[in-house]
Amino acid sequence: MHLFAEAARAHGSSHFGDFAAIAASSDDVFQVPTGYRADVLISWGDIFRDGDRHALRYGFNNDFLAYFPLKGSSEGLLFVNHEYPDPFYLHGYKPDAGTKTPAQVQEEQDSVGNSILHVKRRRDGSWKVVSPSEYNRRIYGDRPQLEFTGPLAGADGIGTSVNGSLGNCSGGITPWGTALSCEENFSGYGTAVKLDDPGSFGWHVFGDKPEDAEYDPTTFKKYGWVCEHDPYDPEYMARKHTALGRFRHENTAFRHEPGKQFVLYMGDDKANEGLYKFVSARKFKPRQWSSNRRILEEGQLYIARWEPEGRRRFAAAGDTRPISVTEGKGTWVPVPADALDDTATKLRAAFGTDEFDARFATNRPEDVEVHEDGSVYVALTNNSTVFDSHGSVRRLREEGNDPEALEFRWRDYAAGGPTGSGDPGTEGFSSPDNLVFDEAGNLWVVTDISSSKLNKANEYAYHKNNALFFVPTSGPNKGIAFRFANGPVECELTGPYFTPDGRNLFVNVQHPGETTGETSTGPGVFGQEATYTSWWPEGNRTTEDTPATPKPSTVVITRE
Ligand code: FEO
Ligand code: CA
Ligand code: CA
Repeated sequence: MHLFAEAARAHGSSHFGDFAAIAASSDDVFQVPTGYRADVLISWGDIFRDGDRHALRYGFNNDFLAYFPLKGSSEGLLFVNHEYPDPFYLHGYKPDAGTKTPAQVQEEQDSVGNSILHVKRRRDGSWKVVSPSEYNRRIYGDRPQLEFTGPLAGADGIGTSVNGSLGNCSGGITPWGTALSCEENFSGYGTAVKLDDPGSFGWHVFGDKPEDAEYDPTTFKKYGWVCEHDPYDPEYMARKHTALGRFRHENTAFRHEPGKQFVLYMGDDKANEGLYKFVSARKFKPRQWSSNRRILEEGQLYIARWEPEGRRRFAAAGDTRPISVTEGKGTWVPVPADALDDTATKLRAAFGTDEFDARFATNRPEDVEVHEDGSVYVALTNNSTVFDSHGSVRRLREEGNDPEALEFRWRDYAAGGPTGSGDPGTEGFSSPDNLVFDEAGNLWVVTDISSSKLNKANEYAYHKNNALFFVPTSGPNKGIAFRFANGPVECELTGPYFTPDGRNLFVNVQHPGETTGETSTGPGVFGQEATYTSWWPEGNRTTEDTPATPKPSTVVITRE
């Protein structure tokens, strides 16, 4: 039966949903199907200017992005997260080098945070950054100040304000026009540099500003929060909302139903951690600006309790048939107020590890998205502790489709892993990370197989580079993953986001060439581009064309 012969052409109803799926690739290029074009909009280090013509540098490791319209789908603001620095590419540091200079710490602080970019579509359909622009702005790892809100504002170790933002992985938007940015892996900035941990930066000891001590997570709780920014208002003082808890925040997805309390879903991106829901004390009311700005300051946080269990378990790494069930029920369990400052740790202690792992743990919740029908899709990336190599996308439906419900049903909607199809582009996805729905409600999924496991003789070999997949949510191809884009060597693709008309797809390429200098044994010699594992976007390591420093970049995909 030619199940996949027809399916290799994705017939979807959306603007981007009709294409010939592309084959997996291990090449050092960004690839899209015939009939589409992908242009680099901006790369790490590129200069753009604010309204006073001050130079701003685009940060490193772009992750979340969202498009905020100024003129519909032809001109707007991109809100972009810069998740973490790579000391090797920034200043040649390898983890065995010992101390860092304060200037190196400052360079790292300058490379993270967020960018607000004014962008515009040209007549020929390509996009440019508008510069100078009064909207263009950067938030850094150490500035400006953000204000704490909610029940723990002013508490010991938190205080009323904080210097900058870091670990900004994914995020979300609100219906009142703000961006939410999630501080995920926050603890490594105030941890001694470890040889085997590229996420340890030692800012608290190597920085020379007195406030650099505040990165130390054993003394301070300044990071690990959800931050709210107003891309449209450069004067707005951004907030960190303590009511949403402090954990490895990956992202947010809101649900607003008229007459109901405002609800926000969030994942804690770590193996064996949970899925959360915040039910605000307030309702969202269109045009009630000052009230809406307080929606995330007060409410009840819940964690999902899964029946019969939350983790998709396998007998051995690489297996694609789980030994656990793939659907069930669940309840939302209130998080006590005294657990908000170190949420996952305190809940695990309160429930006990056995109970937490059995009922609350999941396989690394990365992105969460709410479909227009109210169901909630969760990307569960992978979890080696239960031999889940390839992850899944889980669908959750609230009891009575009520956002405030305290009970839900769940079902694993799409499973990662090789499909066995020999048809190019339908080999299957693995390790789903960010999700987005297009204007027709179809699902788009980017993958995040770790660089250390990519293109090796292991269970990920079939997948080759990380990629972007299209998964129709209706029609004859419902639930089949079609490969739409391939990233260059050792990158993950992040932040896919459509303009409102569905005709422009922005996507971030994060950490190309990641293994070059992240360990003491990485192959890179600083300044010798030929030793770098990726040369994208200026060169192509596969074809040995133009040795260059790989640069995290924002790409825009359009139809030709
Ligand atoms: Fe930063 Fe959860 O990926
Ligand atoms: Ca992520
Ligand atoms: Ca990720």
